Amino acid sequence: MKTCVAVVYGGRSGEHEISLLSAESVIAAMDPERYEVVRYFIGKDGRWDPFPLLPEPGAQPHIDVVFPVLHGTFGEDGTMQGLLELADLPYVGANVLASSVSMDKDFMKRVCRDNGLPVVEWMVLSRGAIDAEAVAKELGFPIFVKPANLGSSVGISKAHDLAELKAALKLAAKYDRKIVVERGIEGREFECAVLGNDEPLASTPCEILPSKEFYDYEDKYELNLAKIKLPAELPAAEIAEMQRLAVECYKAVACEGMGRVDFLREAATGKLYINEINTIPGFTSISMYPKMWAYSGIAYPQLIDRLIELALQRHAAKKGTRFTR
Ligand SMILES: Nc1ncnc2c1ncn2[C@@H]1O[C@H](COP(=O)(O)OP(=O)(O)O)[C@@H](O)[C@H]1O
Ligand SMILES: [Mg+2]
Repeated sequence: MKTCVAVVYGGRSGEHEISLLSAESVIAAMDPERYEVVRYFIGKDGRWDPFPLLPEPGAQPHIDVVFPVLHGTFGEDGTMQGLLELADLPYVGANVLASSVSMDKDFMKRVCRDNGLPVVEWMVLSRGAIDAEAVAKELGFPIFVKPANLGSSVGISKAHDLAELKAALKLAAKYDRKIVVERGIEGREFECAVLGNDEPLASTPCEILPSKEFYDYEDKYELNLAKIKLPAELPAAEIAEMQRLAVECYKAVACEGMGRVDFLREAATGKLYINEINTIPGFTSISMYPKMWAYSGIAYPQLIDRLIELALQRHAAKKGTRFTR
């Protein structure tokens, strides 16, 4: 008997197009001898083609497991995971709480900080109450300005002076009511893949060498000029520390299945900062999450097998939980 995997992709997010690429490469990596794939495409307008997943338990008896390959809003942020919980369907990746905490760049940092993990100094502003002078005084330039709940660098700017800061805040405010401002770290950027439920493992990390001043949308998806170094060239002790921090961050936000933890390493101090965790990392043919695992000994098809296994294990474990008196 083949396992029927529903791949949900597309979606109402700025990362719709990336999701299409990720989904195609996930589907291509699935062994047709083992899996039957059912596609659930969600348009940019949020409409499902040809039919949606229903929230009632038992409504989709043909589906064994769901693989949400949705990046960003309405997919990676807990909303899709909520639907799948209601439907009592096993699904790949983080649960509702971990998804939404990880999506919010303020909450994610708070959880890390409370667990003693290194995150860069940050402040939160709301759209209606922006005081650029106070931010500049508190953090010093350069400052990174981000919508709290987005991905792929959309709406993110690096401000070098007050005029740029004001423009950056205005831009970020278009994308979110909540804006995160951070001290800009001068240094290098790394990523580390994590896989597992109760005993997560970290991959060999890679280094990202942006072709621009920072890793922005263009650099990620359009220019094709950013360079990747896999394995990351760092002393063994620093690699081990990065892997430890990646797993600690993953556990702190209660992530399950998979996650990619991204780091900034300050040149002046050598200090490592956790920048963010992505609970549905890119899965395109050139994406780093599958590449880091391939380098670490888990080829793409085996990675898919493992993710599906983890999804089924979690669902089975939950069956042993009582939800009523
Ligand atoms: N505090 C910071 N200091 C230096 N560079 C940063 C900082 N925050 C973000 N960046 C740069 O901006 C990019 C995008 O920021 P990130 O927080 O990862 O947003 P996204 O979720 O959109 O990927 C990072 O990959 C990095 O190049
Ligand atoms: Mg990022």
